[in-house]
Amino acid sequence: MFHLGWFGTTGPVNWLSPSGTMYDWRKPEIFQDVAKLCERAKMDFVMFADSVAIPSLFCGSTDYYVKNGFMIYHDPVPTCAWMAAATQRIGLASTLSCTFYPPYLLARLLGTMDHLSSGRIAWNVVTSTKGGENFGMEMPEHDERYDMADEYLELCRQLWDSWDPNAVIMDRASGVFADPSKVKTIDFKGKHYQCRGPLNVVSSPQKHPVIIMAGTSPRGQRFAVQNADMVIAHKNSVADMKTYSSQLRGKTADAGRDPKSLKISYAIKPVMGDSPAEAEDKWHKHLANGDVDLGLADLSNTLMYDMSQFDLDKPLPKDLKVQGIVGKLLQYTQSQGHMTLREIAKHESLKETFPIHGTPEQIADVLEHAWREGGADGFHFRQMLQDYNYLVEITTKLIPVLQKRGLVRKEYSGTMLREHLFEF
Ligand SMILES: Cc1cc2nc3c(=O)[nH]c(=O)nc-3n(C[C@H](O)[C@H](O)[C@H](O)COP(=O)(O)O)c2cc1C
Repeated sequence: MFHLGWFGTTGPVNWLSPSGTMYDWRKPEIFQDVAKLCERAKMDFVMFADSVAIPSLFCGSTDYYVKNGFMIYHDPVPTCAWMAAATQRIGLASTLSCTFYPPYLLARLLGTMDHLSSGRIAWNVVTSTKGGENFGMEMPEHDERYDMADEYLELCRQLWDSWDPNAVIMDRASGVFADPSKVKTIDFKGKHYQCRGPLNVVSSPQKHPVIIMAGTSPRGQRFAVQNADMVIAHKNSVADMKTYSSQLRGKTADAGRDPKSLKISYAIKPVMGDSPAEAEDKWHKHLANGDVDLGLADLSNTLMYDMSQFDLDKPLPKDLKVQGIVGKLLQYTQSQGHMTLREIAKHESLKETFPIHGTPEQIADVLEHAWREGGADGFHFRQMLQDYNYLVEITTKLIPVLQKRGLVRKEYSGTMLREHLFEF
């Protein structure tokens, strides 16, 4: 079987969609209802992308992003807390930047969330490509950000392990809360971080939150092999998935890890119709909705490069150097090098990665093929979280077909996210 997740943002992306009249995105209800529906569909997780700054690259200002409510977000962690309060099994993943959060506070925050959610928390580790201006700091270079992140994760692991799982006694007769011999200082002295410990949050149900990351560059992949339980990636074809999966599994094995201990999830956003004709029609309407300016603003943010200076009707320069998501640039200059910037911008504005459209049966065929041939462990729907109507369609039409074929779970066997992810 393969895994399914829901990937989105905590921002005002639904206010113009039909569900925008039903929900106020600033309030918890939309997030709780999305979590409940993903849980009813027996998905593994709901995940939030995040960023700590309104970009100012596209056309040299924040105007486009503010005017369009783009890159405006609630903090994902309290949002996940509200969702955890309304659910029992669904995993909840927050994106948090290890470049800006002090490691002790992040370890404490996620340890607490893991307790409050009974072991359903994941952390999408990002090194952030921007935002230093909000913390009075220069952004470290791309690969140095990963060097710091390696040390950061090691420190967090030592903090989460500073309490033995059996340290807490809570013996009411003797009044002893915990056994000090099972709680240790860590005296971590690294190149970037120092920390005495122990953590003042006791060992949590999963001990460590599930670690997710999305690096696609060679350095990003090395970080994944050393630290991640799951990688999320954007690939435009089964062939690209196959290349990336075998590359990453090869590196995982070379690092002495069981290749199956690192799950790989690919982004999808199927456009569905009740008949092939309806699906075709919806697909063309979907493509026609591509918004070049939105795509350019998104790409300028992702690549950390103002795209407004390039000719829209030419491909991106093959020798372009960017500080942002190198993997995103490679996606367009390597496998899709023929696409013009206008086509790329439309593709990005539609959040398209692996284009799929058809009836639920046809989409199930495509996913089954991508799973078997692409080396995927699962897929995450990359649709704007609050588009409730799309979620209803996916959970009431597509997932029942996948369950009937035995391709995805019908019932949870575990209660914690790590149990869901490593159930198969
Ligand atoms: C599927 C996916 C989701 C991502 N989500 C976020 C995010 O929410 N916030 C963020 O700052 N970066 C996000 N990124 C960027 C990555 O964390 C990482 O910084 C980027 O992929 C650069 O890695 P690379 O240079 O190794 O390719 C995402 C990337 C991918 C592929």
